[in-house]
This record gives sequence, structure tokens and C-alpha cells, in this order.
Amino acid sequence: MHVGQSETLTVHPVPGRHPVHGHAKQLHLDPLGFVRSLREHGDLVRIFIGPRPAEVVTTPELVRKLLVAYGRDFDKGALGDELCRHLGEGLVTSAGRFHIEQRRLMQPAFRAPCVAGYSRVMSAHSEEVAHRWQPGQILDLERELAQLTLDILMEIVFGPHPPSELVDAVGRWLSACQEAMKLALSAREAWRRLLPWSRFPRSSNPHAAVLRDILTRTIEQQRRDPTDNLLSTLLAARGSKTGEGMSDESLHDELRTLFVAGTGTLSAALAWTVHAMITHPEVARKVYAEVDTVIGSGSVTVEHVSQLVYTTQVIKEVLRRHSVWILMRRAMEPVQVKGITVAKGRELYYSPHALHHDPELYPEPEEFRPDRWTPEFEGALPRCAYVPFGVGNRICLGESFAWTELLIVIATIATRWRFELEPGHEVRTRIGTVDRPQNLVVVPTLREDRGVRC
Ligand code: HEM
Repeated sequence: MHVGQSETLTVHPVPGRHPVHGHAKQLHLDPLGFVRSLREHGDLVRIFIGPRPAEVVTTPELVRKLLVAYGRDFDKGALGDELCRHLGEGLVTSAGRFHIEQRRLMQPAFRAPCVAGYSRVMSAHSEEVAHRWQPGQILDLERELAQLTLDILMEIVFGPHPPSELVDAVGRWLSACQEAMKLALSAREAWRRLLPWSRFPRSSNPHAAVLRDILTRTIEQQRRDPTDNLLSTLLAARGSKTGEGMSDESLHDELRTLFVAGTGTLSAALAWTVHAMITHPEVARKVYAEVDTVIGSGSVTVEHVSQLVYTTQVIKEVLRRHSVWILMRRAMEPVQVKGITVAKGRELYYSPHALHHDPELYPEPEEFRPDRWTPEFEGALPRCAYVPFGVGNRICLGESFAWTELLIVIATIATRWRFELEPGHEVRTRIGTVDRPQNLVVVPTLREDRGVRC
């Protein structure tokens, strides 16, 4: 692949490389600060994970020119390798022709009419949780929201009342998948992979076999006694050229992929939104005012979603401040752009978090300012400057699912509760694939101003 470009790119080395760790220590000790600092070294910079070099793209323009234009020439690199052990060849980890075909088979389950159907599940579960909380109760909000997003996804995929052994098995399996990002950026792992015995399999997720067994039975049950849910849409999907459906192996991989992709990202964004409302009372006031006008006294439905204009701005700002901090690619073919060649096998990263904190794109990037999201501001942003859901051929399949759920959950909670932080718990940022608030311990108070009673 080659595009003729007049201007030539230079790859700038990032200072501070340790002979053994490379830049892995910086990536572990202060990942967000480190990725943000890369822009000052150039548009395209070289870091090392132990002995393994990787180029990092730091401008929206280059993200577009390299990762959107040549998206199909890349796979997911070290993070993909780590995730593969848990997810097999699901949409997040697969590449090439197979990824294109699987994405076509998965797409129907994420189209607008399906998401509109899922919104009823989102609303019912949010109401159930909002009615279960008690005034003055001490809540670990991150945990509550993690369970809520899991329960919503389970019902959307498997229909009402999925077996509790299935929900529990998914929950246990999910917590064992959390090390993937750490391993992908570990110098020790990078050195290990250079050694011949690295091909020995590493210990696997201890909950994988149990989950596999329950999933097999659930899929068989769905085949025997079809009900209308996301799984039935996947079972019915046929390739337009082949007329073939998904193999059982792929179905398992795609379901496990959805469990990972469709829970932690959402619960982190929801938790940060509530945190932002607690720490910015003027933002909360406007959200409550909007919810009172738009929702009135009934339940939140999909029709309300597009009317929640200010709440959307708040969540946009949350996703700017707390997005995936690094995404990885690896060239499957040599890619030549602007006079440089990304050799086959070479890794290329970009950081939505760093792009979202570039002061040239977002004035005062550390400020939480939902008001910045005017149509004029968005219109003037360069393409690929706001990428919480990724870019190009690997853009999040669940984006509209996610927006619907984020707005429905926040609006439902806001019709009933205000929150305060419980003293003595310092909210910290825990970093995995996305950053999430740890110790978000809160106390809810009923919205008596709205006439809400227990
Ligand atoms: C706030 C919520 C979410 C965020 C911030 C988010 C973010 C992302 C990002 C950044 C990617 C691209 C990864 C890469 O380029 O390597 C991605 C991919 C993906 N997401 Fe999401 N996501 C969210 C919710 C969801 C939900 C709810 C689902 C499904 C129920 C989902 C399913 C997927 C899938 C299947 C992919 C892989 C797409 C492909 O490579 O073809 N995501 N997501």
C-alpha cells in the first residue's frame, strides 16, 4: 500500500527508555500522564514495551490517515493476543476477512429497531434498581452499576429471567479477564514472547470451562425453544454471499466478546457521570431540570433519548474525560504513509484519552465543561479528534446501544435520586482498559422537590 504525500513523516523517539523495561514503567506508574505527554515529542513517536518497539500516533489527522485509511491492514496487536485467550476470535480480537464477515453477521442485532426493543429492558432494570435503593443507604455505586449493566445485557441477550447460574458464571469469568491490558503492556511479557518456551500455554481463566458448559446448554435451549432476543438474532443471521450462519464456536466467542465489551465500559461511564453530577452541582441542577421537563412522571423510553440534549452533552464530556486510554494495532501488511513504512508485524497505538486532552483541540482539557459541546464546537473539531468509540472499520458495534443505555439509566436514576459522597472514602481512578472510579461510595436522597416518596 502506498499513498504519495509531499510531506515526509519522521518517527520521534520518546526519551526515558530503560534498557530492559523500555517505557513500560512509565506506562504502569502513570499511564494517563505518559500517553498525554507523547504529543510534545511529535505526531508519530516511538516507545518500547521491554524490547518491543511500538509507534504511537498523536494527532487526529494521522489517526485518520493511518488507522482509518489502512484499518484493514492491521490486527489488534499484543492486546488482541492477550484478549484472544479469553475471547477467542470474537469481533474485538479477530482481523481480516473473518472480521468483516463476522461483523456483517453481528450487525443486524445492533440496528436501530433492535436497540429500540432493548431499551425496554434497559428502562425496566434501571427502575427496578432505582426503586430498590433506600434513602440514606450507603451504596458502592460502581458495583451497583456494574451489576445493573450486566443484568441488562444478560436479559437483552438471553431474554427475561436468564438462569442465575449463567449470570453468576459470566460475572466470575469477567473478573478473571481484567489483566489483559496489564499483560499487553508488560515488559516481562514482551521479553517472555521472545523466548522459545513462551509458546507454552499460560494458565487459562479458571471460570472459562463452567461458562462454556452453561452457554452451550443455553444455546441448545434457545434452538429448541426459540424466543425473541439478541441471541435469536445472531442464530438467524446469514452471510449474504455464503448463506451460512455462524458456527457454534464463533457464537461462543462473540457472546463472550459482548460480555466484555458491553458491561465494564458502560458501568464506568455511568459511574463517572454520577460522580460528575455530585462534584458539579450546577451540572446536576441542569440535568434534573431537563429530566423533569422531558420525562414528566412516567418511565424513561427510547423516545425520550433524543430530547435529553443537555444530559447527552454531560455524557459526551464524561466520555471525553474518561475514554479508553490506549488502543493497539499491528500491521498485517507493510503500510507506507508520508514516506514512512510501518513494517509487517510492527505495532501502532493511539490514545483516545490523549487526543481528548490535547489543549489545542479542547481548551482547558482538565475542566469538566459539558457546555463546550455546542454544534459549532463539534462542527469545528477535526475528524478523529473525538473517538470514545474508536475509529474506522473497528468502530464500536455497540455505540448506539451504549448511548441508549447511558441516557436511559442516568435519566431514570435522576428522576428519583440525588447523591452525596459518603465521607471517609476517597474516590480514586482505577485504570484497566478504561479508567473507572474506585471507592465511589455514595448516599442517595429522595428527590422530594419532585414529590418522590419511598
Ligand atoms: C460507553 C460504552 C462503550 C465504549 C466507550 C466503547 C468503546 C469501544 C471502543 C473504543 C472500541 C474500539 C476498540 C479498538 O479499536 O480496538 C469498541 C469496539 C467494540 N465494542 Fe464498544 N464501547 C462501549 C459499549 C459497547 C457495548 C454496549 C457493546 C455491545 C453490547 C459494545 C461492543 C463492541 C464491539 C463488538 C466492538 C468491536 C467492534 C469491531 O472491532 O468490529 N461496545 N468499543
